[in-house]
Amino acid sequence: MALLEVRLLGAQVLRERAAPVAGVSDETRRLVRDMFDTMYEAEGIGLAAPQVGVSERILVVDVKEEDESRHVHALINPVITRSSSDTGRSVEGCLSIPGIEETVTRPTRVTVEALSPDGDPVRIEAGGLLARALQHEVDHLDGVLFIDRVSPLKRRMLLRKWRKSRTGR
Ligand code: NI
Repeated sequence: MALLEVRLLGAQVLRERAAPVAGVSDETRRLVRDMFDTMYEAEGIGLAAPQVGVSERILVVDVKEEDESRHVHALINPVITRSSSDTGRSVEGCLSIPGIEETVTRPTRVTVEALSPDGDPVRIEAGGLLARALQHEVDHLDGVLFIDRVSPLKRRMLLRKWRKSRTGR
């Protein structure tokens, strides 16, 4: 088991557009395993490679829905190919911005196409928490954080709270 260092808000890598994975390799699979270890250790439900300092299009999620169904996915080069027009509001947090939570509006259903860690094409039709987690993690691959998806006023408030929590001022 290998734990990776989770990068926090302010790290440049969180703001970069991650590069597509050219070929799924043993190295990719090792990174995926380490990302799962790191996510579980931090008690998160999703993690994207930029959050551990790797600017590549890789994400992992382990989500339990209200109906107790569990969805575990590691996705390479994920693309949201369809988003529902109906949206839902729910509170989100992020391992890269610990202590900060806010309500975010997102499409309630998405279709995601990607490669599995074995290099096989996968297609996921997601609703519920899985849809939200996948959108949050794909955002990370584009350098977007959930605090970018709230009103400018809320965003300023969250950033102030974050700064205060880090510096005590
Ligand atoms: Ni996040």
